[in-house]
Formats: sequence, C-alpha cells, structure tokens
Amino acid sequence: MYRCLRYRCAVFRSIIFWIIIIVMFKITSIFYYDLQQRTIDSSSSSLLFDIKEKTKKNSNISLLSAKNEIQSLNSTIANNLTTIEYYREYVKRKNHEQFMYNSNLFLSKTTRYILLVQVHTRVVYLKKFIEMLQVVETINESLVIFSHDFIDSNINSLITSITFVPVIQIFYPFSQQLYPSEFPGLDPNDCPRDIVRHKALASRCNNAPNPDRYGHYREVSIVQIKHHWWWKLNFVFNSIEILQNRTDYLLLLLEEDFYLSPDALVFLKKMETTKELLCPECLFYTLGNLEKAGRQFGKLSSKISIAYWHARYNLGMTISHSLWTLLVKYAEEFCTIDDYNWDWSLVYLAQQRFQFPRVMYSSATRVIHLGSCGTHHKKFCSSESDIARWTETNKLYQDNRKYLFPETSLSLHLKYEGKRIFKQPNGGWSDIRDRQLCLSFALKDYKNITPIDTKT
Ligand SMILES: *[C@@H]1O[C@H](CO)[C@@H](O)[C@H](O)[C@H]1NC(C)=O
Ligand SMILES: *[C@@H]1O[C@H](CO)[C@@H](O)[C@H](O)[C@H]1NC(C)=O
Ligand SMILES: *[C@@H]1O[C@H](CO)[C@@H](O)[C@H](O)[C@H]1NC(C)=O
Ligand SMILES: *[C@@H]1O[C@H](CO)[C@@H](O)[C@H](O)[C@H]1NC(C)=O
Ligand SMILES: *[C@@H]1O[C@H](CO)[C@@H](O)[C@H](O)[C@H]1NC(C)=O
Repeated sequence: MYRCLRYRCAVFRSIIFWIIIIVMFKITSIFYYDLQQRTIDSSSSSLLFDIKEKTKKNSNISLLSAKNEIQSLNSTIANNLTTIEYYREYVKRKNHEQFMYNSNLFLSKTTRYILLVQVHTRVVYLKKFIEMLQVVETINESLVIFSHDFIDSNINSLITSITFVPVIQIFYPFSQQLYPSEFPGLDPNDCPRDIVRHKALASRCNNAPNPDRYGHYREVSIVQIKHHWWWKLNFVFNSIEILQNRTDYLLLLLEEDFYLSPDALVFLKKMETTKELLCPECLFYTLGNLEKAGRQFGKLSSKISIAYWHARYNLGMTISHSLWTLLVKYAEEFCTIDDYNWDWSLVYLAQQRFQFPRVMYSSATRVIHLGSCGTHHKKFCSSESDIARWTETNKLYQDNRKYLFPETSLSLHLKYEGKRIFKQPNGGWSDIRDRQLCLSFALKDYKNITPIDTKT
C-alpha cells in the first residue's frame, strides 16, 4: 500500500514535471511568436511615417521613436516584396499629397526662390545642410523642395524637424530601392557592365545589341542620377499643385552635400536686378564657382563673371520657368544622347540648340560642393572627413563675413569669350529602356501615375 502510494507519487510528480515543461514551452513559444508578430506588424505598417506627420504640426519628434522606426524598417529592407510594395504606395501617395511643412510661412503669390534639393542617402550631409540652411538670409521667404531617391526614416525625421522654411518632399518613383530586382533597378538578366558585345549577344542578356559608345552596359546607380534629375524638374514644373498657375519663380538646383553662403539668396537677387545692365542675354545664373580665385571674397565679393554656360557652371545653377519650356522641347535629345551626366547632356543641348547661351555667375563662390563620397568614383571618404570639410567651409564664410552682403551694386569681373566645344558624349546611356523611361517623364503627368506603369 505504502509502496504503491510512493509509486503513484512518483508518477504524479513526473506528470507534474512534464506539465510544467510543456506549459513553459508553450508560453515561450507564444511569447516568441507574439514578438515576431509584433515586429512584422510594426515593419509592414511603416505607416509610422504618417502617424508622425499627422501628429507633427510643428511639434517635436522624439528621437527614440525615430530610432525604433529605423530598426523595424531596417530588418525588412532586404528584397521583401511586401515592403517594396508598401514603399511604392508610399511614394505614390506622397507625390500626390505634396504635403507642405511650415505652410504658415509660405508666401503663395510671391515666393521667388525654390530650392530644389536632390537627396540620396547621405544623412550626415543632410543634417549639416539643414543646419547651414537655417542661417541663409531670406530663406524664410523661399520654398525648399527635397527630392528623394531613397526612403529612409532617418532622412525623413531630419526633414520633418525643419521649422524655419516651408518644405515639400517628393520622391523619385523609379529608384533602385523601389525596383531592386527589375528595371529601372538591376534586372537579373541585365548585361554586366564590362561584358564584350559578342558574349552579351550569345548570352542574350538585356540590351545586348546596344552597349554604349565605349562598349559598356548600363550601371543602375549611375543612370539613376540623370533620371532623378530629369524627373524632379518635370515633376516640379508640371505637377506641383501650388505652383500650377505661376511662372514667376526661379529654381535653384542643389544637392544634400552643398554649402550655401549666408548671403547666397540675397546675392542671387542682386544678380537678377543687374542682369539687364550686365548681361541681358544670360539664360542661367550660377552661385558656385570652381575657379581658384573663387575664394577671394575681399576682392571679388561684389563681382560677377560671364561665360558661355558649360558643365563647369553647374554648381548652384538656376532654371527659370521660361528656360524650362525651352529645354523640355528637346527632351528627346536630352534622353537619347549617350551621356549619363545630366550636365553634359545639357551642354550638348545648349550648344546644339541654344547657340551657346550665357551664364552669369558669382565671382566669389557662394556654393561649395563638400562631397568627397562621390557617386562616380569611390574615393576614400568618411563621415569625419565630411564633417571636417563642412566645418572648414563654415569657417571660410565666417572669416569673410565682412565681405558678404555687398552693398554696392554688382559689377563685372571677367567675361569669357572662349567656347568649350562639346566633342564627345561620355557614354553610359545607351540602353533603350533608359531612353524611354527618361522621355516618359517629359510626356506624362507623374502626379497621378502609378509606379508600375513603366512596364507598359
Ligand atoms: C515579407 O515580410 C512580411 C512581413 O514583413 C512577411 O509576412 C512576408 O512573408 C515576407 N515575404 C517575403 C517574400 O519574404
Ligand atoms: C524640441 O525638443 C527639445 C528638447 O525636448 C527642445 O529643446 C526644442 O526647443 C524643441 N523644438 C521644438 C521646435 O519644439
Ligand atoms: C541597417 O542597420 C545597419 C546597422 O544597424 C546599418 O549599418 C545599415 O546602414 C542599416 N541599413 C539601412 C538601409 O538603414
Ligand atoms: C523672414 O525673416 C526676416 C528676418 O528674420 C523677417 O524680417 C521677415 O519678416 C521674415 N519673413 C517672413 C515671410 O516670415
Ligand atoms: C489655378 O487656377 C485655376 C483656374 O483659374 C484655379 O481653379 C486653381 O485653384 C488655381 N490653383 C492655385 C493653386 O492657385
């Protein structure tokens, strides 16, 4: 009897033991499953972007929540279709909404300068860019449009934290991020850049019959820059709602790694007022200047120079509405010339179609290009050296502060008569698909188009 009891006890104990084990296992797995589910939920509903916007209204975004968002985004970024579809929808919606931050500052009828900033992925620069922008005089009377080709919550939270200028964000809808494994991104069947033509033909890779003039095939990250440049201009001129009835604004083209002098916009205004006197035929203004003498503010701060426009005057250049209407007529040439550089494609147009238009540029440079991490050549670069260049440039303008904001009227420093003839395109733009995509931007109202339409 006693033994039997002990025996039962042992059985009972072992049953209890196993029940505990099973329950614990269950709890762990439920918890684990739940955890997984939650990460999935939070990542697939990166709608967080929007919650933030809706609650924003000039309030502060906590850094913590921004961080969490990144982590959840980051974990799913790898080729997951759900995420990509979500991103495509996001882009479509944002381009349609055209939400303006700080719209209370916007002067809807009189804003003259629209800073159109092409942003890629360089968060370090973007942060400093915004810091720099805040001290540019009269920035509060302009509009800044950031045109992105990469969706990233770090970038978005930097932009949404701007308080001193009206801001609109637009998104290039055909980026590599949105099309990671098909055109306009890299299709698995695309020809490798350096394959020779007969091998390409034999392997039947995409666009095999048409390598560029130097025998190379397309490189996604390189062609994307020209596509994005062309798309954003078409988008701004055709599809930004609040600019629809206006032709009296001037676009200033910038990138996230540019630095503007504090008097850049005031100087641009002065250039505009002296144009009739000094260069009535000028079609462009350019604030940057790559010449060595470009840093002699003491001597040159109230000077402008004149030249035939060329790619070397692409730094901080402006495009007016009337210039744009001229340019876009030649969309077909811009989009078919075998040159992956937007500026060289434009040089070609300028010389072939506009008989060497002139540019008026600031003799002392009022835009500096900081980027060492170039998109074309992977030189050595690091965030530290980038910040160092920013600080150096900041110091340059501080040291020359007394020469900025010249009060005298502007006068002519140099007038160049030399024409640098465009001899040869630089290649990289021979894929028929690129040419068609590029051309399509000029022909369609992209505000109302779904990204998937490239295929048709
Ligand atoms: C993509 O991610 C979602 C959740 O974020 C998941 O449910 C789905 O299975 C993933 N799809 C692929 C193809 O990995
Ligand atoms: C954002 O929050 C910080 C600290 O909480 C505060 O110092 C700053 O003034 C706030 N900015 C705005 C625009 O409210
Ligand atoms: C994802 O996170 C890693 C490290 O946390 C970071 O190096 C990487 O740049 C992130 N990627 C994206 C797309 O944010
Ligand atoms: C912009 O700022 C200047 C000086 O800070 C101020 O005088 C001007 O009224 C502001 N303009 C607008 C539209 O807020
Ligand atoms: C532009 O003009 C049209 C017709 O006059 C008008 O309906 C529309 O509201 C205007 N848009 C803006 C942004 O002023």
